Amino acid sequence: MSVLIKGGRVITAADDYVADVFVEDERISLIGETLDVTADRVIDAAGKYVLPGGVDPHTHLDMPFGGTVTIDDVESGQTAAAFGGTTMHVDFIIQPKGSTFAEAVDEWRAKANGKQVIDMGYHMAVTDLKEGGTLEELATLPDQGITSYKLFMAYKGAIMVDDETLFRVMQVASDTGALVMVHAEHGDAIDVLVREALERGETEPKYHALTRPPETEGEATNRAIQLARVAGCKLYVVHVSCAESVEPIQIAREKGWDVWGETCTQYFFVDYTFLERPNFEGAKYVYTPPPRDKANHDVLWTAVKNDVLSVVSTDHCAFLWDGQKSLGRDDFSKIPNGAPGLENRVQMIHEFGVRGGRITLNRMVELLSTNPAKYFGLYPRKGTIAVGSDADIVVFDPEKRVTISSATDHSKSDYNLYEGTEVTGTPEVVLLRGNVLVEDGELVAQPGIGQYIARSRFGEELRPGLAVA
Ligand code: URP
Ligand code: ZN
Ligand code: ZN
Repeated sequence: MSVLIKGGRVITAADDYVADVFVEDERISLIGETLDVTADRVIDAAGKYVLPGGVDPHTHLDMPFGGTVTIDDVESGQTAAAFGGTTMHVDFIIQPKGSTFAEAVDEWRAKANGKQVIDMGYHMAVTDLKEGGTLEELATLPDQGITSYKLFMAYKGAIMVDDETLFRVMQVASDTGALVMVHAEHGDAIDVLVREALERGETEPKYHALTRPPETEGEATNRAIQLARVAGCKLYVVHVSCAESVEPIQIAREKGWDVWGETCTQYFFVDYTFLERPNFEGAKYVYTPPPRDKANHDVLWTAVKNDVLSVVSTDHCAFLWDGQKSLGRDDFSKIPNGAPGLENRVQMIHEFGVRGGRITLNRMVELLSTNPAKYFGLYPRKGTIAVGSDADIVVFDPEKRVTISSATDHSKSDYNLYEGTEVTGTPEVVLLRGNVLVEDGELVAQPGIGQYIARSRFGEELRPGLAVA
């Protein structure tokens, strides 16, 4: 199947020009001013942007968490992603306590079997090195295409690791070239604050934020940075939410240390006051780190503009408000942490980042596609529009007006963080390796079309045909 995308404005992290893009055998084979070729399918992209498919490196699909399981499985989560212009994501395997890493990989791959709508890879979240997984086994994962290890420095009593585990994994990463990702919060201090709040009878959703002050994020971010320097590994700090965490990352990057940071769409738009909404509405915004004071929104926009933070992900971790979040109606610490977002990342960053004059179109592509592809060993197969790259392409209509709503989105969650927000600009046609996934507001491809992608290491190229051993 060949596809000719005619006359669109091709935007990459570096370029911005009008061209025809020709796709054969799932890859981009020609780009030119006016291509004289015959194609099975011609898409008129005049007046539209032609963007590389979004790459979301931070999602949680079909994940047991907080006493329940996230409501979006691989099929519904990836369908939401496809409608939103994301064609590749990297999900977290959470090592079940007592399981080997091989068992964990098998379990997570089975969840995706036959359901994939877009391409995907995995990070390995290490929870237990005492029984099951060993450091020796962890060292084998990058050769299987799992080239990032994740450590939770919070969620005490569940998936939090101690500093010894964190440091030992960093040492393995230094040997194997894997990227270490941290959820940076001081889990022990938060645990004390949560117990004290509950003893005082403070049970409402807002106490989720009040027991996780920004200093706990700043402290853990700095601790992880310093430990990564000792171990000599590359570090990526996920879901940065506040100035206290931005500052140590900025210092590390100015000093040239191997440290990168990510924020998520919601941290630009949701603030602490959302948690105070009455009638348990605040529970919709219980995710971790929590929504912060509004002043942090500008801090984060500046950080993504100046490359202090280099990626915007979603941390899509969707639950039902009615039925799952309600587990914590009488105790905020029992509200499952997480929120949906996969479908609206490109729309929201385009509307308030690009149209709002905060970042350029090129920087938007870099934050949502190119940088995540580079850091997670997918570039240049993913993350750009170039000859030889996978034809993961979004034909984006910059004029179309859309009102975001849970009634029309594709997540199984019963709410949307951005309910009622009006945006101008939305994906019109979405292609995965040259196959049309979304068109005319419909999913036109069958689940099963998405593939597992074995990733290269940070800094190593990934091209089709380059096998990961
Ligand atoms: O609240 C969140 N973010 N849930 C998902 C797990 C995590 O910490 O990323
Ligand atoms: Zn986290
Ligand atoms: Zn997460």
